[in-house]
This record gives sequence, C-alpha cells and structure tokens, in this order.
Amino acid sequence: MQSPCRIRYNADMSETFGGKNAIEDSEESIQERIQTLPPPLRPRWLTELENAESNQLAPLSRRLNLFIRERKRLLSHNAPPLLQGIHSIERREDKVNETLARIGEASERKDLFVGKGKAARVFRDPQDPNVCYKSIVNFEEYGICNAIGVEAQFLEDLQDLSVHGMRTPRLNAVIDLPTVKVISMEYLKAESINEIIIRNGAFPARFDVGRFETAFRQYVAAMHNRNIYHRDLHGGNILIADDGTPYIIDFGKSTFSITPESAYEAHDTFGRPMKPYPKDDDRLEELLRRTKLYMLGHPVEPLQ
Ligand SMILES: Nc1ncnc2c1ncn2[C@@H]1O[C@H](COP(=O)(O)OP(=O)(O)OP(=O)(O)O)[C@@H](O)[C@H]1O
Ligand SMILES: [Mg+2]
Repeated sequence: MQSPCRIRYNADMSETFGGKNAIEDSEESIQERIQTLPPPLRPRWLTELENAESNQLAPLSRRLNLFIRERKRLLSHNAPPLLQGIHSIERREDKVNETLARIGEASERKDLFVGKGKAARVFRDPQDPNVCYKSIVNFEEYGICNAIGVEAQFLEDLQDLSVHGMRTPRLNAVIDLPTVKVISMEYLKAESINEIIIRNGAFPARFDVGRFETAFRQYVAAMHNRNIYHRDLHGGNILIADDGTPYIIDFGKSTFSITPESAYEAHDTFGRPMKPYPKDDDRLEELLRRTKLYMLGHPVEPLQ
C-alpha cells in the first residue's frame, strides 16, 4: 500500500525552505512583490513599507502574501465574491482592483466616515456620492452574525419591497474574502433614530411620526410574509433620511424561517438552546413608543 503523502508543497515551494521566509521578509523582496500589484493598489503598501521598523517586516510580508493570494482567488473566480445578477462591480480584473483600492482609500479617510456598529464601519466611496461600503472590522462580533453574503442576500430579497416609501438601501455588490468583507450599497443621506436621540437633535421637518408608525408596522409584517425576520430592530438600525423617509438596515442577525415560532430561536455551536432573539414586533413597538415620547420632549434612552 502506498504511504499517504503527508507533505504538501505550495506551487512555488515557498513554505518548504526555512531560509526562504527570512529572505522573503526583506525590504527588497517586499518591494518586488508590491510591484507585481497593479498601480492603484501599490501606494498603501509602499507607505506601510516605508514606515515599517525592521521587526514589522515579517508581519507586513505575511499580510502582503495573504493579500496577493486573496486577490488571485478573487480573480480566478474560485471564491464567490459577487452575488449573481449584480453588475455594478463586474468580475473584471481592472474593476475589482479599482474597487479594492477605493475601499482601501475610503476606510482611511475621516471625511468619508459614515457610522459604525458592533461589527462594521461604514464609509462613503471617494468618487461616487451615492455609494457607501459596510466593512467588517470586528471579526469576533462577526462570528455571531450572518456571513456578509447572507446579509447581502436579505437586502437583495427585499429590493422590491417599499411600504409608504420605507425600504432598504439598494445593494451594489458584496466582496467576501478572508480579510475583506464588504457590502457595497446605496448611501443614504440619513441619521439613525439613536443618533438623533443621542445628539438630542430634532427629527427632519418632513418626518411624520404617524406615517412612520404605519409604514414600520406594515413593512415588518410584509417582511415576515416573505419569511424574513430582522431580529435586530434597535434604534441604530432604522435610519431617517433628510426628507423624512424611514429606512431599515443591517440584516446581520436576520433569518429566513418558515414558521414564526422558530424564527427567534437561538442555539450555540453544540445545538443547545440559548436565549432567544427579541421579537421584531416587540422591538418595533418599543422603538415607536420611545420615538413618540422623545418627539413630545420626554427624555428617553436610545433603544440598543
Ligand atoms: N446605506 C447606508 N447609508 C447611510 N448610513 C448607513 C448605511 N448603512 C449603515 N449606515 C450607518 O452605519 C451604521 C453602522 O451600520 P450597521 O448597523 O449596518 O453596522 P453593524 O456593525 O452591523 O451594527 P450593529 O451594532 O447593529 O450590529 C448605522 O447605524 C448607520 O448610521
Ligand atoms: Mg446596526
């Protein structure tokens, strides 16, 4: 019987020789690898290399290798980076490169920062005023959320649902790589209910709380009719646009369930039952109660 092959080599055998890693971590070798990237992707790495102390070269080299590998995977179509039917970022090499470069730039610019939650930061595209990116930054929190492609799928499933103007942001694309997890979507000129309450601000003049009440209840009922349960209806996930239109965002905890009874159940990795998710209907009523009280001038805590 043939003995099982226990040693596997990478195609370039880079893991095979202990000495080779040390060479790979040198400035010169990192430079060379950066030059293999297309021009828009180089500056960020070159700046990092310029600022790196010698003991930071090895981790920088490893991250660069990972990035190069991930990019190759993205371009070789082995990964499922984009949802079907979404064309704004095509799987063309120049498009993918350009998008990664834009996301890299936007994530570092303070003026493009939009907001953050427990798992993600949201920032605007440097060029297109209608586009923003939700980028996962807290991978521990992400572990208890939907995979980014699943979250995006809920947005896609709800694209055609609008109740008295209330809807979700339009989805452009999703990038799902080991270290880059991004939803590209419509940027809303809006503020969350919690942001308004925390800064003790006023709701936009054209916001009609009666209309919002009807729209919100009907929207959630329509979503449940499609077997989608949001499961995270707090005041940070309802945005109110400057023109008064409410939007529902963040399907990171949502689920698809045939029965309403099982929709809120939660289990740990061993299948043991855990504290269930809060019910959408309870949360929406509580959010409406606090919004109305706040608008009447009563102090309220934001619903987290
Ligand atoms: N499409 C958008 N347009 C404008 N602002 C947005 C958009 N999406 C998100 N935001 C802002 O970014 C914040 C964070 O986004 P999101 O709620 O999706 O992140 P999260 O980390 O999943 O949040 P949570 O803490 O609820 O889990 C939102 O509260 C909102 O202020
Ligand atoms: Mg949120």
